[in-house]
Amino acid sequence: MDIKTYLADKKKIVEQALADNMPTAEGPLAPHIEAMRYSLFAGGKRVRPILCMAAAEALKVDPLLYLPIACAFECIHTYSLIHDDLPAMDNDDLRRGKPTCHKVFGEAEAILAGDGLLTYGFELLTLPCPGKLSPESRLRIINLVARAIGSQGMVGGQALDIASEGEKISFETLRYLHSCKTGALITAAVQVGAILGQATDQEFTALTTYGNNIGLAFQIKDDLLNVESTTEKLGKAAGSDAELDKATYPAFFGIEETRKKGRNVVDKALAALEIFDSLCDPLRELAQYILYRTK
Ligand code: IPE
Ligand code: IPE
Ligand code: MG
Ligand code: MG
Repeated sequence: MDIKTYLADKKKIVEQALADNMPTAEGPLAPHIEAMRYSLFAGGKRVRPILCMAAAEALKVDPLLYLPIACAFECIHTYSLIHDDLPAMDNDDLRRGKPTCHKVFGEAEAILAGDGLLTYGFELLTLPCPGKLSPESRLRIINLVARAIGSQGMVGGQALDIASEGEKISFETLRYLHSCKTGALITAAVQVGAILGQATDQEFTALTTYGNNIGLAFQIKDDLLNVESTTEKLGKAAGSDAELDKATYPAFFGIEETRKKGRNVVDKALAALEIFDSLCDPLRELAQYILYRTK
């Protein structure tokens, strides 16, 4: 299979589904909705909804029947980016190749745009879908996503990230921080795809191991790109981690060792997929893509 074509095809589907599902900027709330739409449609690789779809596909279930659920991950992810860029957090001016939400709409509106996208993400998880989904499975999905992005997951990771600026932390804490701030939502996207695909316990456990490892790899690569790439290529500030004295893999291990660690973690993700057949190839290719991506 050709992963580039796969990603391009799936991205098109996600873009269309987001366009179909997002409120339009009309009426008295137009400026608020415009701020949400600005960040959501600014670009982005759409990796999380694609992972969710690929996991369902690996289990022979058509993800097109569950698009609002896949889209929820992009809304939640975009919220996390808007808040991550705020002056009180990473204080970034550029995201997805455009001025950050707060630069265009002001801080208060950027906070609210993030809040709106987070909440809308949960609304999407509750919308009717053409595919079958029992109330029990839906509840499991909502619970799993809430846990993944709250204080035990993404938000907790962000809190640790901020608290660790300029501090010496252990490798264990660094790995935990990365697994929370970035890994938890990625794992949840894969797990939700697994639930949509009616995974057996064994399949769910394998896909969770895969998700945990690619989630960590994703942030390791994000750290590497911050050092090795340029602002122009990334569409967001390069070199910013060193400036803020962030806890990152390259700061802890140097570039070469970080690359090895990234490779190692992706190999663990691939090993977890051994029980699956070729329908799982997109997930295999996605794991590789996370390491060789250039943005
Ligand atoms: C960037 O995520 C922030 C992290 C969690 C590392 P992505 O690299 O998926 O950003 P977009 O969605 O493509 O802009
Ligand atoms: C982003 O981490 C994590 C979340 C948004 C939850 P970073 O701060 O390292 O990501 P970039 O480099 O700004 O995209
Ligand atoms: Mg950050
Ligand atoms: Mg940041």
